[in-house]
Amino acid sequence: MREHDLLRQLTEYAASGAYPFHMPGHKRNAAELPDNLPYSIDITEIDGFDDLHAPEGVLQDLNRRLSQVFGAEYSFALVNGSTCGILAGIAAAVGRGDTVLMARNCHRSVYNAVALLGLHPVYLQPPTDAATGISGSIAPESVRAALEQHADVRLLVLTSPTYDGVLSNIAEIAEIAHQKNIPVLVDEAHGAHLAFTKQKSLSAVQAGADIVIHSLHKTLPSLTQTAAAHICGTRISPAEFAHQLSVFETSSPSYVLLASVAACVRFLEERAEAAFAAYETRLQCFSEHCRTLKKLSVLCKGADTLTAHPSFFAFDGGKLPIVTTHTALDGAALLQRLRKDYALEGEMAATSYALLMTSVCDTDEGFSRLTRALAEIDRTAERSDRLPCFQTLPLPKLHCTPAEAAIHKTQSLILQACVGRVSAETVLCYPPGIPLVVPGEVISAEAVQAVECAQNHGLFVRTIRRNFPYIAVFD
Ligand SMILES: Cc1ncc(COP(=O)(O)O)c(C=O)c1O
Repeated sequence: MREHDLLRQLTEYAASGAYPFHMPGHKRNAAELPDNLPYSIDITEIDGFDDLHAPEGVLQDLNRRLSQVFGAEYSFALVNGSTCGILAGIAAAVGRGDTVLMARNCHRSVYNAVALLGLHPVYLQPPTDAATGISGSIAPESVRAALEQHADVRLLVLTSPTYDGVLSNIAEIAEIAHQKNIPVLVDEAHGAHLAFTKQKSLSAVQAGADIVIHSLHKTLPSLTQTAAAHICGTRISPAEFAHQLSVFETSSPSYVLLASVAACVRFLEERAEAAFAAYETRLQCFSEHCRTLKKLSVLCKGADTLTAHPSFFAFDGGKLPIVTTHTALDGAALLQRLRKDYALEGEMAATSYALLMTSVCDTDEGFSRLTRALAEIDRTAERSDRLPCFQTLPLPKLHCTPAEAAIHKTQSLILQACVGRVSAETVLCYPPGIPLVVPGEVISAEAVQAVECAQNHGLFVRTIRRNFPYIAVFD
């Protein structure tokens, strides 16, 4: 049975008359459960359907084809999102208490790995794009300087592209790290599509990273939670990575999700070329329309080009941050107008832009509705020139590691009273899930201002203890 028959295999099994004296508890009994969920193909690892954590059959075949389609040595289909791949990748690359060099704008899953493994983080601060406040690329030179300064670094972790779409020069960065035999993990959760576009050479597998993590569900046709991990070269042991996955990923993988990974792989094998060519034409056409915008602008589309953003090495053509600094709207207000007046739902609001995501599955109709909506909002929005709120804060003073902070005695203080105190918890806006304050660091006045700014612009600020605007600090 070929891998891409996983869905057919599941469908045939459902019709086979086999009676389930096993999990899951719904027993594929659709007659009892008439709510149109995919019960009939929702099995777990029964005879003939392989074992995700020790694959030898249909799932091994799926992993092999994933590796072929992405050009990696080893690939792993994941059902717990990029989150479990990032946790497993970091755990496979370092030992407890090691030092990790990481971009400050990493996703919270990287911070969670740091806390769980008792790691010492050394941060790389991305520069800020003056026009938008968006975090720029990590420069190869800053990696070189940090590695010179911190000889004990065991792993480099970067996000490329970022949630906003900013890419770093992974090829050059990997070369610098590899000169010191330091492996590079790229959180490419938002870049699984890159390998099928004109920006293929910028994708982290092509560029020489050692561990690359993809959320298939974010930018490719695949169900939510599906992801993939790729191990390249010889610095990371695939067996150790597989072991760490068995720690951080469920032992009851959903075959509905695995069938979706298989369908995504089949799509990439059979239809990627034509589908991505049409997608790039749609994006190009949308970009032409953006030329007429006078107050709104779309990053790196229309009259806006990469050269206007010197801190960006490159920008993912599929992301549409719509900058509102020349209107009275903030990102949340723009998303609200798109939702209310045009039935268009965006991805994320930020203080000075709204982020819309596109994919190969977008339609001409979707793009033309967006084009019309932006033209109308651009015409009617009040003009007002504002400075963007910067995403990048000065690097904090570190008092102790996040793991040490987790066992400290705490008290809760209102946000404004926290300046100068050591934080016992993470403060972040979700999305994007990039911490503004991390346990064990001294809370700066700039961090408090950034949190207030996010709040004033209607963004959703979260803390671990869910007690915001109170923050747990060291007693
Ligand atoms: C940059 C980045 N990395 C990792 C993740 C986690 O991905 P997943 O939701 O697939 O676990 C996210 C989620 O939004 C993200 O934005």
